[in-house]
Amino acid sequence: MNIVNEKLSLISECNSEDLRIERSRLCCDVEESTMEGSVFKRTQLCGAGFIENDMHGIGLQQCDLHGAGIERCDLTGAALVSCKLDGMTIDGINVQEMMTFYKNNFKKENTTMNKATRKAIIAGNWKMNKTRPEAKALLDELKGMVADVKSVEIVACVPFTNLETALAATEGTNIKIGAENCHFEKSGAFTGEISADMLAEMGVEYVVLGHSERRQYFAETDETVNKRTKAALAAGLKPIVCVGELLWERECNITEEVIARQIKLDFFGIEAEDLKKCVIAYEPVWAIGTGKTATADQAEEVCAFIRATLAKLYGAEVAEAITIQYGGSMNAANAAELVSKTNVDGGLIGGASLKAADFTTIIKAAEVG
Ligand code: 13P
Repeated sequence: MNIVNEKLSLISECNSEDLRIERSRLCCDVEESTMEGSVFKRTQLCGAGFIENDMHGIGLQQCDLHGAGIERCDLTGAALVSCKLDGMTIDGINVQEMMTFYKNNFKKENTTMNKATRKAIIAGNWKMNKTRPEAKALLDELKGMVADVKSVEIVACVPFTNLETALAATEGTNIKIGAENCHFEKSGAFTGEISADMLAEMGVEYVVLGHSERRQYFAETDETVNKRTKAALAAGLKPIVCVGELLWERECNITEEVIARQIKLDFFGIEAEDLKKCVIAYEPVWAIGTGKTATADQAEEVCAFIRATLAKLYGAEVAEAITIQYGGSMNAANAAELVSKTNVDGGLIGGASLKAADFTTIIKAAEVG
């Protein structure tokens, strides 16, 4: 159910799973209701009381929660993004005072508190670039620059023709190698395609799937992305599954619908244990190769939405364990701000991964972030 621009005075004992309330006023009490997976956007909730509700996976975005109180609610997987929180309490604890306390007492360790269970992954997607000698030269340069990096998983996803060279150049280093696609069948008459087993046998660890360029230029669909993801998992590869909205979809205000649809279809039939082996890359199509980066807040908003969607499908524990990257014109200058966001666990980098120095700066930004 969608509620837009309404003034509501009471919600009690209602089952409102997947409710969406936008630009509304709700300064009343919400009691004993199921609000699992619901989204409140730009809504006035000041002074509202939430009591004994199931608020599992709920998303509160740009809401005014000042003076609101949450008592005895299940908040597992809940995400509060860019909300006004002064005076808000959860079970009697003042949220802002608690945040200040953590900030002052835990400092650097705590900047990654929400990410502690997830390892940042910075992956380069080389696309159709580099001959074998060029690939070797780039990786030789890179490996010296990132040799001391421990807390970030570094991946180079390279053209099929470079895989053997890349694996040899990075042997014994902290750089993992990925491919840029794989087919969903194990073998057969599929001219020009490469199977997941062929990649796994070589020692390739990751594979990019569902990239918007594959969807746009090679007619890949959510259905084939789903099949490829299953094939990659069956072969023991770690899929980096890309999702993202087109510019006009964002302008029509359907980003969340598009992303939720892709997540549901791309991971359809994939069990939680397998999902945990996947990485999700949020790549807004309008930001790829255009120099037009999503702002850190836009990236965070959608990455948080992806996590909330996963929480609804798989539960909060699984959702918290998944690495969600941002991709789209990420570079040495903007990486630190992007990866500092709570739900942005790294990046999938195109152009900037082709220069060792720039890619290293991004990797090191994720170490701090
Ligand atoms: P750019 O970093 O060149 O915008 O590309 C992003 C991308 O498509 C990574 O997969």
